[in-house]
Amino acid sequence: MKNLEPIIPYPMQIEYFDDFPDDYLILDKTYSIVPSSKANKCASVLQKEILQILNLNLQIKKETKGLEIALDIDNSQLITKDSYSLTIDDYGIEIIGNNEAGLFYGIQTLKQLLFNYHDHLPFCEIEDDPIYHWRGLHLDVSRHFMPISFIKKLIDQMAILKLNRFHWHLTDDQGWRIESKRFPKLTEIGSKRNQNGEIYEGFYSQEQINDLVLYAKERFIEVIPEIDLPGHTQAMIAAYPSLSCFEEDTKVWNEWGVSENVLCMGKFEVRSFITELLEEIIPLFPSKYFHIGGDECPDTNWKSCPNCQSYLKNNNFQNERELQHDFTTFLEALLKKNKKTLIGWNEINEGKLSDQTIIMCWQGDGKEAIQKAVSLNKSVILCPNNTLYFDWKQSIFPDEKGAFGVTNLKRVYEFDPEQHIEFETQHLLLGVQANLWTEYMQTPDDVEYMTFPRLLALAEIAWNSGRKQPWEDFLKRTEEYKKILKNYHIKYCERI
Ligand code: ACM
Ligand code: ZN
Repeated sequence: MKNLEPIIPYPMQIEYFDDFPDDYLILDKTYSIVPSSKANKCASVLQKEILQILNLNLQIKKETKGLEIALDIDNSQLITKDSYSLTIDDYGIEIIGNNEAGLFYGIQTLKQLLFNYHDHLPFCEIEDDPIYHWRGLHLDVSRHFMPISFIKKLIDQMAILKLNRFHWHLTDDQGWRIESKRFPKLTEIGSKRNQNGEIYEGFYSQEQINDLVLYAKERFIEVIPEIDLPGHTQAMIAAYPSLSCFEEDTKVWNEWGVSENVLCMGKFEVRSFITELLEEIIPLFPSKYFHIGGDECPDTNWKSCPNCQSYLKNNNFQNERELQHDFTTFLEALLKKNKKTLIGWNEINEGKLSDQTIIMCWQGDGKEAIQKAVSLNKSVILCPNNTLYFDWKQSIFPDEKGAFGVTNLKRVYEFDPEQHIEFETQHLLLGVQANLWTEYMQTPDDVEYMTFPRLLALAEIAWNSGRKQPWEDFLKRTEEYKKILKNYHIKYCERI
């Protein structure tokens, strides 16, 4: 019995040829890359990878009589979305994707084999497909701003691990980080905070956002923006105080926690402002999803605001929570008009939202939020904070970095999404996501440390769910994978 190949996430199936159990292919300059017409883009991706890893410059040809790495897209035999097959035998290498993403994933698998075996590749036949179509990573850039160059580095790692959703938490109490040409004070004022006498600042121009979205798309990763509403909005209110209940002079917040300074639910102006703002932001992100936050919104101000109270009475609402619910319904209609599906944190899941709305379940182990969402026929994405919040510590050492509790590599690996949702409602489970809240991560190095190697375990549960291999085997593959992390200069946590 061979050891498992050092591939993360592990493929659904790897078979070896009985006649040549220990044979291998030597990849050298006698090979050409031969794509079908639909596979041209992926051919250049593979060409670059082979050049970088083996320092071998293979030609891309329409056809060849010589040895080849054949690339094709064929959805007649490979029928599951994003699936691929990879064959290495004495005829050469062949990768077939059910679609372009599948072919790209096959190339990522070959890339991991090249890192491990260099030019001596084992004869084998791999069949693979993802269990979940939401395989996400979230990054908060409000508490601490992260440069585009670093986000690209993170996206590169996501691509190797076959993750496909980058959830970009762009706004919060402590900083507004996306340019609006219509409302320039959002960045002029909202992107800066006074941190004990020093200005901490940063935001992304629309040009930078377009560039990042394209960079991610080339790696089959969708970027989903989050504009957190109606709470977590103190930076927005600092820029435009009339959006709040009492219009007091407000500063971008310089504390961690949940600010009580939230949008006023009673003023018509708030809805017209948000409509104009979102209609400016929405076109920057081609994904069909748009995240409106909706978490942790205190109603302290709404209780004493004349505008909120008269809106509440005129609509016969029973309590202030219905004000937020009414606002979420307004956002849902606005997004629908703009052909987007609303995603929100589990607090939004009250009353009458449409079945298209997606609930991101984060509180505790997520079970209560999941139960409620599926009982209302809503699709869910699981990111329970006691397991998949990567701002939590990854070891029990007293000097370990991070906040709150501990969720180590094993705990992440052993997370079983299917245990959280009854069999009859499993079709509502879109997938899983890890969240990086950056209150206690000041620099890209800090983010890398908190992300790796836990992101490897996330990739396993996202791709394989209940199909994943035993923990001990994953641990061995993680050791091998460190070659790749080192190659990309990722500063991972050594304490597993
Ligand atoms: C959250 O962690 N407030 C979604
Ligand atoms: Zn109000």
